[in-house]
Amino acid sequence: MNAQSSRSDDHGDSGRRTNTPVDGYVEIDGVRLKLSQPYTGSAPWIGQREILMQLLACWITVDESDLPLTPRLVGSPGMGKTQLVIAAAKEQGLPLYIYQCTADTRPEDLLVTPVLGQSGTISYHASPLVSAMVCGGICLLDEGNRMNEKSWASLAPLFDGRRMVESIVAGIQIPASKDFRAAVTMNDDESTFEIPDYILSRLQPTLKVGFPNKQDEMAILQYHLPYAENEMLAMTVEFLQASHRLKLDFSPRDGINLLRYAIKRLQQDSNHPLSRDQAWREALERCLGEEASDLEELARRQKRALGGEAVPLGLADLFFDADDPMHPDRDEDDEYDGEYDDEDA
Ligand SMILES: Nc1ncnc2c1ncn2[C@@H]1O[C@H](COP(=O)(O)OP(=O)(O)O)[C@@H](O)[C@H]1O
Ligand SMILES: [Mg+2]
Repeated sequence: MNAQSSRSDDHGDSGRRTNTPVDGYVEIDGVRLKLSQPYTGSAPWIGQREILMQLLACWITVDESDLPLTPRLVGSPGMGKTQLVIAAAKEQGLPLYIYQCTADTRPEDLLVTPVLGQSGTISYHASPLVSAMVCGGICLLDEGNRMNEKSWASLAPLFDGRRMVESIVAGIQIPASKDFRAAVTMNDDESTFEIPDYILSRLQPTLKVGFPNKQDEMAILQYHLPYAENEMLAMTVEFLQASHRLKLDFSPRDGINLLRYAIKRLQQDSNHPLSRDQAWREALERCLGEEASDLEELARRQKRALGGEAVPLGLADLFFDADDPMHPDRDEDDEYDGEYDDEDA
């Protein structure tokens, strides 16, 4: 597989005429499309080798008739989902195109956008997704959970055996190059649209990006903040690891932000320097909120709040009532007995 191989015969539907992209343009069925630029950043993926291998496996084809998979990467914000795809694209040696999904993304934004030129002519701009399809690159649909059903529906034929999209605006069908690969990231926070099952079934498997261990988390912070003092790094890693143990959502990104602010505060006034501890505490409160200074209390409060609200449904919930003694997830200890012990907080 290589990035240069988008000849017209690479494309799934040989009836369509897709020419080789030249100078940032491609012509499909007589319509000229201006292509997006690939993403050029190249930070590495640190630690957690297994999930990188799982993602790369999805993109392998084992036979002429085999198709790559488009996995869903899920996890809390700041855990490294976007970073993982950036690193995987680099490892794969293919150009990466990132499409940032939002609640108001329309189907045509995902595909081809008409742009009115000064002389009144219309030119057609290919989205990062279509550019990846045409150039034989990787497309990351980032934060896909923010996108509505109508936009997802326009991608249904892309993520099954058809591997093509239809641009109503440009009046063309666009087949994906043989080398085209994709991945979707989704935050598991509340900002989630209900994505219909027929779409989710095309975005498989689900790969869960979890918390890094202590050593990896230190390496991540050191990589992003090579100028940070060891003592500050160590305080931050201790904090993050404690929050992971309590299943709180603080992420490597939170650690990076907090450290950056603390270091700026320390540098600010050499005549009246803050102590490291003061700067770090202030950064903790300003970046992560006052409640972050008492993790155990925060964990207790979150657990209590979860007890009061509906807990997310699992597969078994379709077949058993929540209080059915046969429910496989039923746990006598789940019933709130007025207090929680710290151990499982
Ligand atoms: N395993 C990792 N290796 C390298 N950097 C990481 C890793 N995990 C998180 N990061 C860094 O943490 C920050 C948040 O990661 P990002 O990929 O934006 O998270 P997400 O997409 O899950 O919200 C980025 O600066 C990213 O580089
Ligand atoms: Mg992201």
